[in-house]
Amino acid sequence: MQDFRDKVAVITGGGSGIGLGIARALAQAGAKLVIADLDEGAAKRAAEALRGLGAESLAVATDVRRSESVEALADRVDRELGGADLLFNNAGVYLGGPMRRATEDDWRFVMDVNLDGVFRVGRTFTKRMLDRGRGGYVVNTASVGGFLSYGPGVAYSASKYAVVAYSEAMRMDLEPDGIGVSTLCPGPIDTNLPASDRIRGAAERAGGFSEALAPLTRGGMKPDQVGPIVLAGIRNRLPYIFTHDDLREAFAARFQTVMDCFDRIGAPPGS
Ligand SMILES: NC(=O)c1ccc[n+]([C@@H]2O[C@H](COP(=O)([O-])OP(=O)(O)OC[C@H]3O[C@@H](n4cnc5c(N)ncnc54)[C@H](O)[C@@H]3O)[C@@H](O)[C@H]2O)c1
Repeated sequence: MQDFRDKVAVITGGGSGIGLGIARALAQAGAKLVIADLDEGAAKRAAEALRGLGAESLAVATDVRRSESVEALADRVDRELGGADLLFNNAGVYLGGPMRRATEDDWRFVMDVNLDGVFRVGRTFTKRMLDRGRGGYVVNTASVGGFLSYGPGVAYSASKYAVVAYSEAMRMDLEPDGIGVSTLCPGPIDTNLPASDRIRGAAERAGGFSEALAPLTRGGMKPDQVGPIVLAGIRNRLPYIFTHDDLREAFAARFQTVMDCFDRIGAPPGS
C-alpha cells in the first residue's frame, strides 16, 4: 500500500503512545482513523486531536480481552466507514517479573491482552477483509523483545515472541489474497506502557509491576518518530519494522548463538 488517502485505519491501543504516534502520521497522510482503546477518555481525546489535524476520526471504547467488544468494534467500522483497509493490532501491556516470581495472574494478565487480544482482533478484521476482497494491510505490534528475551519480564517476552510467530504465519497466509502483513518491533519508546498496572485489579498485583519498565522507556524514542517509520515499512511491505538501528548487534549476537549451537550438535557434555 503506497497511498493512505481516504483509507480506513483501525488502531487498537490508539489512545496513547505508539498507536497514537501511528495515528498522527496516518492523519497527515490523509487516512480516516478509528481509535479503539480500553481507555474511552484517551480514545476520545485522541480522536479529537486527530480531527484537529483534519482527519476524519472515530473513538470506540474497546476491550481486546473480549470477543464481543472486538466484534462490536468491527461492526461499527463496517457500518460507519465501510470497513477497515488497515489494521494496527497494537494494544498491549507490560508487566515486570522474573520467572521465579511470576504468578498465574501475572501470566494471564499479559497474555490476555498481548497474545489472545492480538489473535481476537486479527481474526475478526482479516476475516472481514477477506470477505470484502479488496485487500488490506495489517501491522501487528510485537517488540524487539519478540527476538531478544528479557529475563526480568518473562510473560511479556513470551507474549512478544508469540506475536512474532503469529504475525509471520499471518503474512504467509494472507499475502496471496492481497493482504500485506508487517511485524512492528519497536525498541524503547517513551509511552505510558510502564503504567500498565493501572488496568489491573489491586488484588492481582502479586508477582511484578509494570513500573519496572520505566528506566528503559523514559528518554526513549518519541511515539511521533515511530509513526513515519511504520508508514515507510508498510510502503515497502517489510516483514519486520524496526525502530532502533543500534540493536543490530544484539540481534546478530542472538542469531550467532543459535547458529553456534548447530555447530555444537553432538559436542561432548560440558565442552
Ligand atoms: N513503549 C515501548 O518501549 C514498546 C516497545 C516495544 C513494543 N511496545 C508495544 O507497543 C504497543 C503499544 O504500547 P505503548 O508503548 O504505546 O503503551 P501505551 O500504554 O502508551 O499504549 C497502550 C494502549 O493500549 C491500551 N490497552 C491496554 N489494554 C487494552 C485492552 N485490553 N483493550 C484495548 N486497549 C487496551 C491502553 O489503554 C493504552 O492506551 C504494545 O503492544 C507494547 O507492548 C512498546
